[in-house]
Amino acid sequence: MIKVLFVCLGNICRSPLAEAQFKRLIEREKLESKFMVNSAGTSDYHIGEKADRRTRKNAAEEGLNIDHLGQQLQHEDLQEYDYILAMDHKNLENINILKKNLETDAPCATIMLMRSLDETEGEEVPDPYFGGEEGFRNVFGILENANEKLLQHLIKKHQL
Ligand code: 4NP
Repeated sequence: MIKVLFVCLGNICRSPLAEAQFKRLIEREKLESKFMVNSAGTSDYHIGEKADRRTRKNAAEEGLNIDHLGQQLQHEDLQEYDYILAMDHKNLENINILKKNLETDAPCATIMLMRSLDETEGEEVPDPYFGGEEGFRNVFGILENANEKLLQHLIKKHQL
């Protein structure tokens, strides 16, 4: 089982969408049984909350249902998951701080920027929270493309 965790700041805009899209992709490839997929935020701002209304609306227009509830990244997650995908540099930095503070030498997730595998090789997924609807549509496309690249990478790497 390959365990994948998408991480942003609030876990209500970018990462729950990335999670839902990735789940749809693995269904398309009939690979659901090979993966465990989840998302979390580095902050505690929106624990227990539904995804942002604009995220859900935009996703619904693309045929995607998001029922995730906000949760905060825990240091145990670094050992629980195989891949942790950070939406931007600040998230990446915060995840790496958690990693540094781990009091164990047990194997740790591969921590990557979400866009490290797309054409930009490491640009950020912009935070749409304080912007308008257009930002949410933009993020949808960025994540869909990056997720496709991520899945192809994992299929190859794990010979699925
Ligand atoms: P996300 O977006 O990290 O993509 O979920 C945000 C959600 C909430 C906040 C910031 C970004 N906030 O400041 O509450």
